[in-house]
Amino acid sequence: MKIVIAGGSGGIGNAFIEALARRPGIRQIIATCNRSPAAASHSKVRWYRLDLTDEAAVRDWAAQLGEIDWLVNAAGILHTTGQGPEKTIRQIDPAFFLESMSTNALPALLLAKHLHGKFRHGRPAVFATVSARVGSIGDNRLGGWFSYRASKAALNMCLKTLAIEWRRTLPNVAVVALHPGTTDTALSKPFQRNVPQGQLFSPEYSVSCMLRVLDTLRPADSGEFIAFDGERLPW
Ligand SMILES: NC(=O)c1ccc[n+]([C@@H]2O[C@H](COP(=O)([O-])OP(=O)(O)OC[C@H]3O[C@@H](n4cnc5c(N)ncnc54)[C@H](OP(=O)(O)O)[C@@H]3O)[C@@H](O)[C@H]2O)c1
Repeated sequence: MKIVIAGGSGGIGNAFIEALARRPGIRQIIATCNRSPAAASHSKVRWYRLDLTDEAAVRDWAAQLGEIDWLVNAAGILHTTGQGPEKTIRQIDPAFFLESMSTNALPALLLAKHLHGKFRHGRPAVFATVSARVGSIGDNRLGGWFSYRASKAALNMCLKTLAIEWRRTLPNVAVVALHPGTTDTALSKPFQRNVPQGQLFSPEYSVSCMLRVLDTLRPADSGEFIAFDGERLPW
């Protein structure tokens, strides 16, 4: 199997690489990072530096790849150096809103646009993106975090729409959005204080749960939003 992990330098992305590199059936892992690769290196892993919001860069990188069995996109932002998620509408900042949209929603579209030919081999395949439960409109009871919620809701709509198109053109591919659970990474660090005990996962645990989901996916599951424990989430 050949697997792409986009956002492989992040807490969750790197845990995917570590877990998958140990599997004997996996021949090669193509990993991308925005700034620098994760510290550990494996002989199966080939790193590329790639800004997933830059279409020309994604196109040129994709042109170098052969067939792909799984793609897992684990890139995303919740906060930047100057800006955290909004507690109220009064904190909306246009630049942060647009950066959240371009980093959380756009990469899945660019990856699908430039990698679709790599899934044309007919074998069961996976195109998964790590979304977030807070991107569910139906599940939104707490409010807040406008930019993050909106960008993940946009991502979810993009994936659902892609699943419908690929059901016709690439019926071997399961297109899914994943919710990893609250996971101890740089992204969640500033917001971990209020997480109930036992509900903050290590990246290794979160990824082992998501891999259980991915391992049992069939093309018929395409178009689902699936939590780490297998729960089907409302869009
Ligand atoms: N941690 C949680 O509790 C949690 C909960 C729900 C959903 N999620 C989602 O899970 C995914 C992974 O998050 P994480 O917790 O692993 O966060 P993380 O450790 O901060 O990793 C984020 C990753 O996104 C990459 N990235 C950011 N901007 C990028 C760009 N323009 N182009 C390419 N890559 C870019 C980063 O690359 P560099 O480091 O190289 O910049 C890094 O690899 C995100 O989509 C997040 O929304 C996380």
